[in-house]
Amino acid sequence: MSFPETRLRRLRASRALRGLVRETRLQASDLVYPMFVAHGVDRREPIPSMPGIDHLSIAHAVQEAGEAAALGIPAVLLFGLPAAKDEAGSGAWDDEGVVQLATRAIKDDHPDLLVICDLCLCEYTSHGHCGLLREGSVDNDATLELLSRTAISQARAGADIIAPSDMMDGRVGAIRTALDEDGLTDTPILAYSAKFASAFYGPFREAADSAPAFGDRRGYQMDAANGAEAVREARLDVEEGADILMVKPALPYLDVIRRIKDETDMPLAAYNVSGEYAMLKAAAAAGLLDERATVLEALTGIRRAGADIVITYHAKDVAQWLR
Ligand code: PBG
Repeated sequence: MSFPETRLRRLRASRALRGLVRETRLQASDLVYPMFVAHGVDRREPIPSMPGIDHLSIAHAVQEAGEAAALGIPAVLLFGLPAAKDEAGSGAWDDEGVVQLATRAIKDDHPDLLVICDLCLCEYTSHGHCGLLREGSVDNDATLELLSRTAISQARAGADIIAPSDMMDGRVGAIRTALDEDGLTDTPILAYSAKFASAFYGPFREAADSAPAFGDRRGYQMDAANGAEAVREARLDVEEGADILMVKPALPYLDVIRRIKDETDMPLAAYNVSGEYAMLKAAAAAGLLDERATVLEALTGIRRAGADIVITYHAKDVAQWLR
């Protein structure tokens, strides 16, 4: 049947009809809110590259997490800014490190809010790379041991989910084994499976002080041109024991989200990264775009592509708009 019998406009005639046949929903319960926890006391400092997002000392992080929870956001994702860095990134597995302390404090005050710990060494290494260096490049297998230690420390601090973002080969399996051997068999792994070497991380690297001191991350993060390889990464993470997969960034990689969703049937997250956030904030501030409408459209697109979970700096605003 085609026109004039079929008229697709019939179901667009009113708000109620459009709502009835809407295929994709965006709800606060789909969102994860990333936060930057900084060492020190009583700090809440705006991050210039990410308007609306702050560096938070622990007490402020607890307060911010509470606001997210009150808005119906089920989870926060923690990044740490330690007081000191070294070659190996040892601050990452310090049981009294900034992320570990923040995790305990948030879980104490908001036990029902999920705390996801990003697991990577780049915020803790003096050179800014995501692992141990050997002859100017990141030593994959030596890094696995450090990631495993960090995962155990984060899980013991009370992390509900461990999220490795380093892109070392074999890390999901290594972390799963280490957690299990420590009796942490119930701690899920959210794997940054398809993490691309992206220029859209620029504002984050300023926020997390984690830009590599030399070179770039193309030796471990994925080439932006590769979709089939992203599916291979996802399959390997499933085999190694990942519980949830992730594609990152989100908006330039909607096809990758769809492919991984179709080919794995796993719970899937997408990370709407700092540069995607900064673009819309800047365009809105310049009066070029309607912030609310464009953010809701962009995040709905990420959900429609196949993401179950959307990690976004817009989370609090969106939860407020959807009330
Ligand atoms: C750490 C990490 C990065 C991001 C999340 N975890 C930066 C990077 O890989 O350089 C980026 C997040 C964002 O841009 O919002 N490895």
